[in-house]
Amino acid sequence: LFAASAADPKEALAALRAEMLALNSLPPWTAEATQMVFGEGPVGAPLLFVGEQPGDEEDIAGRPFVGPAGRLFNKALEEAGIGRTETYVTNAVKHFKFKPTGRRRLHQSPDAGDIAYYRPFLKREIDLVGPQLVVTLGATALRAMTGKPLAINKTRGEVLPVADGPPIFPTVHPSYLLRLPDPDSKAREYERFVADLRRAHREVA
Ligand code: URA
Repeated sequence: LFAASAADPKEALAALRAEMLALNSLPPWTAEATQMVFGEGPVGAPLLFVGEQPGDEEDIAGRPFVGPAGRLFNKALEEAGIGRTETYVTNAVKHFKFKPTGRRRLHQSPDAGDIAYYRPFLKREIDLVGPQLVVTLGATALRAMTGKPLAINKTRGEVLPVADGPPIFPTVHPSYLLRLPDPDSKAREYERFVADLRRAHREVA
């Protein structure tokens, strides 16, 4: 059904998205989400960013990184001198996982099973985009890419070779920056994040 379009990566990406939309094997919790949120950006983008999962605003918009974390991320990309045409952004988990509370939908971290479920799809998405470097934002993305629960602090800002694909460059998730309560450490951590993005950009220049 989808094989005919496999020659053109852009069409193959659209086919992968359609295949995921048609799945009837999704984890039960995904039924609570508004919609699946697929990756965005040009095929051949040298930098591919992997986030955790769509948040509340992404779930409604159907697009990755359009909420508060996304806005901070875009600001940091701009400061690092990274252009939109150079980046493809996606998530390890493609549905919003949350706990309904009175007024708000409370974000829930995906577990190892959720990450493992989406992993083969993420791998295929990355293969089709063909980036030079995969930047993982936060622990979930790093786990999705390595299959292991690695500490960000031990691997951050380093290029990790991968046997069967582009190397990985781990850094923190922008929502971690948003959660820091102290303004000084927030500013400092934000600068570190921008410095990481600059390093990643130099790797593909
Ligand atoms: N956080 C993520 O990890 N991904 C998004 O798309 C939005 C927020």
